Amino acid sequence: RADDGYRLWLKYDPIANASQRDAYARAMQFIAVNAATPMVRSATDELRMGLQGLLGKAVPVVTGAGSRTGGIVLEVTPGVSVANDEGYRIEKRQNNIVISAKTDAGVLYGTFALLRHLQTGQSIDPLTLVSSPKVKFRMLNHWDNPNGTIERGYAGGSLWKWYELPETIDPRYKDYARANASLGINGTVVNNVNASPRLLTGEYLQKVAALANVFRPYGIKVYLSVYFAAPKTLGGRTGAGVKTSDPLDPQVRKWWADKIKEIHRYIPDFGGFLVKANSEGEPGPQDYGRTHADGANMLAEAMKPYNGIVIWRAFVYKADPKADRFKAAYEEFTPLDGQFDPKVIVQVKNGPIDFQPREPFSPLFGNMPKTPLGMEFQLTQEYLGFATHLVYEAPLFKECLDSDTYVKGKGSTVAKVVDGSLHGYTQTLMAGVANTGTDRNWTGHPLAQANWYAFGRLAWDHTLSSEGLADEWVKMTLTREPSAVKRITTMLLKSRDIYVDYNTPMGLSRPWAGVHFAPEPWQDKSPRPDWTAVYYHRADSVGVGFDRTASGSNALAQYQPEVRRQWENPQTCPLPYLLWFHHVPWGQKLSTGRTLWDELCTRFYTGADSVQWMQREWAQVKPAVDPVLHADVAGRLATQHREAIWWRDAWVLYLQEYARKPIP
Ligand code: GCU
Repeated sequence: RADDGYRLWLKYDPIANASQRDAYARAMQFIAVNAATPMVRSATDELRMGLQGLLGKAVPVVTGAGSRTGGIVLEVTPGVSVANDEGYRIEKRQNNIVISAKTDAGVLYGTFALLRHLQTGQSIDPLTLVSSPKVKFRMLNHWDNPNGTIERGYAGGSLWKWYELPETIDPRYKDYARANASLGINGTVVNNVNASPRLLTGEYLQKVAALANVFRPYGIKVYLSVYFAAPKTLGGRTGAGVKTSDPLDPQVRKWWADKIKEIHRYIPDFGGFLVKANSEGEPGPQDYGRTHADGANMLAEAMKPYNGIVIWRAFVYKADPKADRFKAAYEEFTPLDGQFDPKVIVQVKNGPIDFQPREPFSPLFGNMPKTPLGMEFQLTQEYLGFATHLVYEAPLFKECLDSDTYVKGKGSTVAKVVDGSLHGYTQTLMAGVANTGTDRNWTGHPLAQANWYAFGRLAWDHTLSSEGLADEWVKMTLTREPSAVKRITTMLLKSRDIYVDYNTPMGLSRPWAGVHFAPEPWQDKSPRPDWTAVYYHRADSVGVGFDRTASGSNALAQYQPEVRRQWENPQTCPLPYLLWFHHVPWGQKLSTGRTLWDELCTRFYTGADSVQWMQREWAQVKPAVDPVLHADVAGRLATQHREAIWWRDAWVLYLQEYARKPIP
């Protein structure tokens, strides 16, 4: 049967190497459990299915191992030595493979870890795997609308069939939950941050509750994005007579308290709210002269009787032609540090602008020491070529997480801000804007599954490497033939830099109009100046790039001196960031020995040519990969090559009008 990509990395195809398969089979003759919770049942179901596939034989489930040996023991036991409730230990004990954890969730994660170990063909002699999540809330954010569309979604429609829910439960919901649980993802925001108030109506809450029921046995809590003006919109309609959404208005506060109570009648373990407020036209507390903290704290107070949290987004910027959008979130949020309720986490996009192919880390990280800051990455490839361009995003995530903020001296990485260790907070969060949809293979581009995979694994443990994650994912999903694994992994690892080279090299950014797909660096008309392309790259007859030093917007002042020093001198600023911070003359000599113009051209051309290199590499792995999947990716790479040339030519011809120099 052709591989349609539906099974993702949870493939469980028979292990080809017979001696390895036999060794595994001898060590896994039964599955013993000491608890019977829904999550333990999910774990045993998965193990049974996985072992049936990998070993080609049914492995029975028994209650308690007794004196038996040669099997797998799943054990929920408070005394086990792991860092936290969701962690697990896998070790050999009396000739059994014991997966132990403090909670059933830990056992579930350990089970998936064992399956991953087998799928990637690793030895079980000896066997010790110990791991605990470094971040508490590991979530997907779905930008899904009630009408079934997905904002910035490129893999079909929404997975949630709102019109059929709650009565009809698409089996896919469970597979979605399995995939997430296999990575350690424990929360999902089911609707768009540009939220429809409808999701908060009883009609929709029943539907959301039906999803929550499917996700719960996989340790996944459901969250909702909320429309801040819902009290007025819904309250007015239902005759409750709420005339405002002012967070300090007692009627509004009561409306939210009642609403949260109602939500918990449907979903007792509700995860909480995600809020986009006073951003890109969405309503918010500032509409009433209140602050982000006033708004967030009002919701947090209403949530007080429950476990839920309030995730407040820091993605804000104003339509001010003289301002630098780069600085906006820092300016609005740092003065509020210390004012947020303990239930609030502020969710910050990785970079200061908006999920560009390469951005410096957001200067908010490290600069709000009293406020838990969550990370928001984007898996869906809004600015990364949708579902036709191959961009493996783990290097992008890692580049940000490993960046040093220097706020408490050397080694104060963004990851340490996000995991709470730098400033000592426990409410920690990483979110990925999902790239899933109704396409049979979930993500449109078959290799984009790796981005969902890598995000989830990094949310669990940000110290994992891009290489290691690519290697795992390829072995579990595509092939275990060693030379093919090597080739595909190498392609994945280079793909992001290749994209940056033909799309936005050296710190160019946002050459798009609204759709964020076609090259439009010349776009200079929009209702908002900061929604034009020319606002970002600032090309003129002198040079190109945005001066963010003291002679320009001085955005660099938002970083610690050590960081600033890395970037503020155009002679020494690393080239990938050069045009983020400097307006550089066309004829300026760079560290490569080329002028700026020549260097830009070289990168545009090298980037586009490198797509052909990826096509050749992909052709080489054909014998090792499923033919249907291979053809699909080959087609997408051909499209990518055509579009890379389009990007290259658009930029080069446009910039050449200013540079007035020949193409080297
Ligand atoms: C980007 C994206 C929007 C989205 C916004 C957000 O601007 O284009 O579609 O709503 O980010 O993150 O809120």
